[in-house]
Amino acid sequence: MASVEIRNVRKAFGPVQVLHGVNVDIADGEFVVLVGPSGCGKSTLLRMLAGLENITSGEIAIGPRVVNNVPPKDRDIAMVFQNYALYPHMTVFDNMAFSMKLAKAPREVMEQEVGRAAKILGLEALLQRYPRQLSGGQRQRVAMGRAIVRNPQVFLFDEPLSNLDAKLRVQMRAEIKELHQRLRVTTVYVTHDQIEAMTMADKIVVMNGGHVEQAGPPLELYDRPANLFVAGFIGSPAMNLVKGGMGEGGFQAEGGAVFPLPQSARGEAGIYGIRPEHIQLREDGMPATVVLVEPTGSETQVIARIGDTPLTCAFRERVTARPGETIRIMPEMDLVHLFESGSGRRLAA
Ligand SMILES: Nc1ncnc2c1ncn2[C@@H]1O[C@H](COP(=O)(O)OP(=O)(O)O)[C@@H](O)[C@H]1O
Ligand SMILES: [Mg+2]
Repeated sequence: MASVEIRNVRKAFGPVQVLHGVNVDIADGEFVVLVGPSGCGKSTLLRMLAGLENITSGEIAIGPRVVNNVPPKDRDIAMVFQNYALYPHMTVFDNMAFSMKLAKAPREVMEQEVGRAAKILGLEALLQRYPRQLSGGQRQRVAMGRAIVRNPQVFLFDEPLSNLDAKLRVQMRAEIKELHQRLRVTTVYVTHDQIEAMTMADKIVVMNGGHVEQAGPPLELYDRPANLFVAGFIGSPAMNLVKGGMGEGGFQAEGGAVFPLPQSARGEAGIYGIRPEHIQLREDGMPATVVLVEPTGSETQVIARIGDTPLTCAFRERVTARPGETIRIMPEMDLVHLFESGSGRRLAA
């Protein structure tokens, strides 16, 4: 196993800069998730780690070794892609043994290593099948098996679950996480799905437009997003972000409402943030007009307007109010987030 360091890495395709100086520290055995919107440079960064793209400037080290000029096959990494890239004309066994076959490993070593990976992944009964005879989840497992047999220092995953249906995705997410807990191999996992990132990562790196917005443990990003981008990206439903300014009795929203502020609030906040799950129904709350009610069973999502400001709320209670009716709601004061309007930076609150 090995640590990975990405130091001030830039990437340009011709005249187009796509990574603008990325720094990421990954500890030995850590599960790091790179998350961000489509096109922000996640795959490019992962491919540079794998050695499939050259590095325009900066340095990537795996363990103590700078690998900028080390070819992919000598980097001691294994990559799992979104489309699995299994060979259709080969059995599961042969797909998994492929890299060892290339390396001219003896048959008994191949059988031992494939057997070990198949056991870990529950594929023992499927070794003689062809990819077309497998379900999506089984194919995904074979792709992981191919990575495991290589005993790599680092696993790289690029959106490995995006071709699976929602239920299977949740199941495979748990399997990959459990696999990591058993094998403890340093892992870099790319996704655009913030829930996948939150549930799987030891550390999340939020990327946007070719740079890192924030890196840290999932709950740290949830509790203390460093800026507006992270605040809006992490959490579902997304945080309410209300424009306005500091006023007499609280935060004066452009839409007319006045939101209470914690005692500790200071600085010139231009944006008031409150997560849907941190708004409570309270008899002494602010009157709000119901726009939409969406019961999910476990909770009720409500969009309600205070003045012209719509707020998404997620209540644990069931709500019987109908659109047009008034409910009384209150943000949990200690869980308010304040941001500067120009820079979008978080203010201490
Ligand atoms: N080979 C390439 N040539 C030119 N531009 C590319 C190439 N590969 C990726 N890009 C561009 O780099 C940016 C980042 O792409 P990518 O790393 O695939 O993003 P992500 O994986 O986060 O969706 C995109 O704007 C994409 O169009
Ligand atoms: Mg990608």
